Amino acid sequence: PPLNRILNLQEMENVARRVLSKKALAYYSSASDDEISYQENARAFSQFFFLPRVLRPLSTTDPSTTILGFKSSIPVFVSAAGLAKLGHPLGEANITRGAGHTGIIQMVSSSPSLSYAQIAESRISPDQPLFFQLYKHKDDAQAERRVREVERLGYKAIFLTVDAVHLGNRERDIRAGWELDDMERMATNGVQKDDIPKKELPRKQEDLDLELEELDLTGTAGALIAKDDTDMTWEVTIPWLRGITKLPIGVKGIQCVEDAVLAAEAGVDAILLSNHGGEFFSIILLSLLADQSTSGRQLEYALPPIDVLYKLRRQRPEVFDKLEVYVDGGVKRGTDVVKALCLGARSVGLGRPFLYAQSAYGAAGVARAVRILEREIISCMRQLGVRKIEELVPKMVCASQCGES
Ligand code: FNR
Repeated sequence: PPLNRILNLQEMENVARRVLSKKALAYYSSASDDEISYQENARAFSQFFFLPRVLRPLSTTDPSTTILGFKSSIPVFVSAAGLAKLGHPLGEANITRGAGHTGIIQMVSSSPSLSYAQIAESRISPDQPLFFQLYKHKDDAQAERRVREVERLGYKAIFLTVDAVHLGNRERDIRAGWELDDMERMATNGVQKDDIPKKELPRKQEDLDLELEELDLTGTAGALIAKDDTDMTWEVTIPWLRGITKLPIGVKGIQCVEDAVLAAEAGVDAILLSNHGGEFFSIILLSLLADQSTSGRQLEYALPPIDVLYKLRRQRPEVFDKLEVYVDGGVKRGTDVVKALCLGARSVGLGRPFLYAQSAYGAAGVARAVRILEREIISCMRQLGVRKIEELVPKMVCASQCGES
């Protein structure tokens, strides 16, 4: 259908599902184990209900905000998601341009299918802010080089992903199989063909099955994430990052109240409550990128991030004064965004929806997705009796139809 017929993000996803190759769809859509966390991420939003106010002036509604001091037309950003070229030849550049034209911020993945420089060059102007998501190499010097590179390219913040140090189960992805030559062509970001450990890369589904039978899976996985730092700590890693960059630092992948408190104590500028979208990284992608950085996947049955946000607001409200809190996972509607903001989030990230949008319609699809969210957010704000983002407060939502209080 023509783009102007797409009215919501689910319709956008439906189109993407028709145009994506089997392997691209497997990579974009799959999640861990039985995909419970993935489904719950979205479902958890439906447990919160609004308590709208009436007889309030509404002549102007402004959904804009700032994120780490950078202007954003709506309280939404693009969460880091790798390999956009799997869905569209222009890949990440679609997202950069779509985000630029609509005034939102893109958090660029450590594992994109364009180089960090190409993505920076795709900005609509040098002022367009990009954030960078870091998978930390276990060699500090290599990790530092990467941070310096993106700093030099003008990226404005570093988000260290911390929920992906362990590699896990990836069943749907395995079943779909992978054609590695395509992957080799796509991963232009510093990966030379010769760097790819050929013998570890099964070329056909049969080979893959054979390898899984022959090899101890944890052993393979262990070998593949060998380049990533699996010993990161609050005490060492955060001060290290602070020591090598002046950019604001965020931690991506906080999944409980206690760690949010530790992040505040560690003095980071932002946290992204996230369970990686219930997602995991393909073992093959890992091996392909083994020379630069890798990731595991998040824990199945991790609490949906919106629920972590709710607990954090109730148990440790002071954390919100110390750093900016964002949330991602399962967001599809403006109402989801507004609920998160009522509960204290400053902004909300979306991963898959932007991958789908760019796969289906390129940069225009990304821009359309932002416009759809903008319309939904404004509509929700007006029905809540709210004109400005700052007016969204916890008492405007209640949990599980208010069995909570
Ligand atoms: C991701 N995610 C992710 N996170 C990260 O820190 N670095 C990465 O490279 C990626 N890559 C990636 C690829 C794909 C295909 C998916 C689906 C996810 C996680 C991502 O940043 C974000 O946390 C989730 O996507 C949010 O959930 P939704 O919006 O996809 O439901």
